[in-house]
Amino acid sequence: MNAAGLFDLTGHVAMVTGASGGLGLRFAQVLAANGAAVALVARRADKLTDAKAAIEQDGGRAIAIEADVLDAGAMTRAFDEAEATLGTVTILVNNAGVAQAVRAIDMSAAEWRRVLGTNLDSVFLWSQEAARRMLAANKTGSIVNIASVLGFGVAKGVAAYATAKAGVVQLTKAVAMELTFKGIRVNAIAPGWFVTDINRDYLESSAAAGLKRDIPAGRFGADGDLDGALLLLVSNAGRYISGATIVVDGAQSVGLRG
Ligand SMILES: NC(=O)c1ccc[n+]([C@@H]2O[C@H](COP(=O)([O-])OP(=O)(O)OC[C@H]3O[C@@H](n4cnc5c(N)ncnc54)[C@H](OP(=O)(O)O)[C@@H]3O)[C@@H](O)[C@H]2O)c1
Repeated sequence: MNAAGLFDLTGHVAMVTGASGGLGLRFAQVLAANGAAVALVARRADKLTDAKAAIEQDGGRAIAIEADVLDAGAMTRAFDEAEATLGTVTILVNNAGVAQAVRAIDMSAAEWRRVLGTNLDSVFLWSQEAARRMLAANKTGSIVNIASVLGFGVAKGVAAYATAKAGVVQLTKAVAMELTFKGIRVNAIAPGWFVTDINRDYLESSAAAGLKRDIPAGRFGADGDLDGALLLLVSNAGRYISGATIVVDGAQSVGLRG
């Protein structure tokens, strides 16, 4: 089979959480460009409308669904709407996430819960919903969770975020154990640093100058650097890959400093 055929997503319905900007918007565009109809989920409806228009302008199919991943009712409505308009979701990208930069000793319980809820609880709950619906519809498919290199290593000020992302890596393996034999593959991508709204202030500050020097690739991640990993995991090209986390970080996390 030629490469284009191997990665073709025609007939799939994808849902991307956090598709209103940053990495999630790019994931949605890549899925649409390779044949999937895409349900775009996030809280900012205006950004979703722009994203839908951009995808349609490029010849893709998309719908915008305003939903907070922390809201169980909104989750049910999001899947209902995607199903009614596009069909059963067969690709779920759990991408919505928030970061915080607070030393553990100063973090409030509410902040801890917000970060864990958005970055970890939602991955579990949206995966569960997607899997239940795929099984009910007798469909196979795949789930991709967006972890982070901070799921493996840590820095100061990221206790909640790093804990959540480590949880995402383990959850990916645990759910893959249970779902793969039913034809639902579950994997994760762990990106290094990509400049987006989640970290722009920090990565563009002088405090982060040393960070780039420590990345063997010599730069932060850029638009397109995650396309290949995503397409591999959701397409027939990755049909025997499940329970895996692909690190995409320009070798940032493999070395010891010094
Ligand atoms: N950028 C990096 O260097 C990097 C590295 C490793 C991992 N990641 C992970 O990649 C994912 C995307 O991050 P990003 O860098 O693209 O950041 P971003 O530009 O800030 O995007 C985050 C997205 O999540 C959505 N979101 C946040 N809370 C939500 C909620 N409660 N309900 C629904 N949507 C919500 C936001 O949409 P609304 O505000 O419109 O709801 C937005 O679309 C995150 O999981 C992040 O942890 C990023």
